[in-house]
Amino acid sequence: MKSARKKLIITIIIVLAVIGVLFAQGYDFMPKGGSDILLEVLDKCKNCDDIKNIVTTKRTQDEWKKYFSDKGALSGLSDKEVTTLVNYLAINMPIPQNKLPRRYNVNTLPPSGRLIAEERCTLCHPINVAMLERRTYVAWYNLLVHSGDHNIIEHTEQEWDTLAHYLTANAPIPKESLPPELRELPPSY
Ligand code: HEC
Repeated sequence: MKSARKKLIITIIIVLAVIGVLFAQGYDFMPKGGSDILLEVLDKCKNCDDIKNIVTTKRTQDEWKKYFSDKGALSGLSDKEVTTLVNYLAINMPIPQNKLPRRYNVNTLPPSGRLIAEERCTLCHPINVAMLERRTYVAWYNLLVHSGDHNIIEHTEQEWDTLAHYLTANAPIPKESLPPELRELPPSY
């Protein structure tokens, strides 16, 4: 077999294996990310602008909070969810015109902290290592950017900012919310 084709086949097998593992594990216990919350909020909010308008507008955290709260769209959300939502929007919006997706869902919106954690914080250790610690934003950010174990992980500036804010607001999650095999940290962590 030609080596280019062999490489392609091996790559496909690895990708399928990774997808398989992700689906098999299931991360239902993870707190919602900014894009999950945004879609839910817009689904219920009758007088909010349409999503294209939302994702092409630049606002600060406080401005986003005021925008949605003036529309009565934050009722039913916990403080953590509101914080997660407004940080996500302030960091990731506006999406440039030439990058706007045709359909809006969690896979076409900029990745939320949840998605980034599920994808990248499971590559070397189980996700509980990330989700059972309490840290400030600066401490999370420093871990990602400066610790020798983590400064090699591929990322954009917006992704690490989003993830650090997500972890600050949402970690630690209660141990009981994790599946039994994830309640204890692996040895040496
Ligand atoms: C490239 C491999 C790798 C990836 C990917 C990775 N980690 Fe780690 N992480 C490590 C190693 C190795 C340790 C253990 C360090 C030790 O034993 O002291 C660790 C430990 C930790 C710890 C424990 C505290 C500490 O300083 O040891 C936390 C919290 C953590 N990781 C969070 C994360 C988060 C959040 C992500 C997602 C961005 C992530 N990790 C992705 C390799 C990785």
